[in-house]
Amino acid sequence: MAKTSSQATWGGRFTAAPADLMLQFSESVSFDRRLAPFDIAGSKAHSAMLAHVGLITAAERDAIHAGLDAILAEIKAGKFKWEVKLEDVHMNIEQALTRRVPAAAKLHTARSRNDQVATDMRLWFKHACGVLAQKIAGAQRALLEVATANRTVLIPGYTHLQRAQPVFLAHHLFAWIEMLDRDGARFRDVAEHANWCPLGAGAIAGTTLPIDREFTARALGFLDAKGRPQVTQNSMDTVADRDLFIEFAAACALFGVHVSRIAEDLILWSSAEFKFAELPDAFCTGSSLMPQKKNPDACELLRGKSARLQGNLHTLLTLTKGLPLTYNRDLQEDKPPVFDSFDQTALCADVLAGTVTGMKIQVERCAAAVSDPALLATDLADYLVAKGVPFREAHHAVGAVVRLAEKNNAALNQIPTEEMKKIHPAFEEDWAEVFDLGRALAKRSGTGMPGPGALAKQFKRWEKKLRVER
Ligand code: ARG
Repeated sequence: MAKTSSQATWGGRFTAAPADLMLQFSESVSFDRRLAPFDIAGSKAHSAMLAHVGLITAAERDAIHAGLDAILAEIKAGKFKWEVKLEDVHMNIEQALTRRVPAAAKLHTARSRNDQVATDMRLWFKHACGVLAQKIAGAQRALLEVATANRTVLIPGYTHLQRAQPVFLAHHLFAWIEMLDRDGARFRDVAEHANWCPLGAGAIAGTTLPIDREFTARALGFLDAKGRPQVTQNSMDTVADRDLFIEFAAACALFGVHVSRIAEDLILWSSAEFKFAELPDAFCTGSSLMPQKKNPDACELLRGKSARLQGNLHTLLTLTKGLPLTYNRDLQEDKPPVFDSFDQTALCADVLAGTVTGMKIQVERCAAAVSDPALLATDLADYLVAKGVPFREAHHAVGAVVRLAEKNNAALNQIPTEEMKKIHPAFEEDWAEVFDLGRALAKRSGTGMPGPGALAKQFKRWEKKLRVER
């Protein structure tokens, strides 16, 4: 048989080889080679299934497995020769195997690159989601350490970036931990969605050969909670579907949004204006011009990376929008944004953990910021409410107290009691006790509130949860 094409896999009906420019344009091996371990796992399971149903012999299966193991070892050792002219990871591995093992010519029986790449990616998503969930838990643990080391520190909580009400610093950190916890759960959900085996869908319409899809699914660990194999239910959807890519990128993008908000708080906290925290030198940089500068570059990059993660999501949405069923080569462009989202998300989680771990809380600055009695103006209104005053009336009365304090240039708790009584007769001698911060926090005892009792429960909850996942 005359070889007119370099493509041993699909070159049969061609009389001319692809142009060099076309090879360069259409290759994906430069980025999909990272799928090699998953591709090889898929091929081993597929060939085991082929032997199981009698489409190849046990000896052929064993030769294929040994060949694939050797190739994987070479890849891991950096000795494997990747060839651009073989387009992608699948053909590079299959061709290398064919050179070594004659039985390799039977490996692609009842399989297409379309269900093969879908399988590789589903295996990769399960792996990637596990890695990211772990890294996010690492960042949560770093935050929990800071909360534990600064358990009694109070800061103002902010709305509109204006001081609002006092909270424990730990309460603020726990808000971040909650955000990250939803991210971790989201990645675990994506891994669950990935847990269906595409092999057997073929190029689009399955195969005429008597394969056993459940066998392959079991061999690859596509199992439900009860250990039953899960296989995709429509061969056309199987090769066309890229929902997982979008879900994964969306989970990364939302994580990026969370991290950018955390980073922004840290940037503010480390500024001279706030000075609630000093960021570690190891995650800051200096200025080439201004010797005094210490810039929060890691945090700024965390904020900036979120744009990139959103961009990747958008690329995938646009890539798949309006594509006719089923597989189209456009879909090869699905991998770079997903891999980039993974790499950047992994980095961001690690950098967040590193930044937080080395952060020093400036306890005195926090205490000074939270000492303004005005932060407890709402508590003063609650004081009146406790005495039977309707809240709207109480709010109005405290507003008048605030106005008077501003006029007298006095702190809110320094108004003479006679003046207070003039503003509202329900104010009694004990009114100024409201401004005791400890008392104010202790009263906030409900679930989810920043009081010390409620917070103690949150400490327990996170210590347990983050240890369990360790
Ligand atoms: N490299 C290809 C991709 O990532 C593999 C699937 C190729 N399938 C095909 N029919 N050309 O999409």
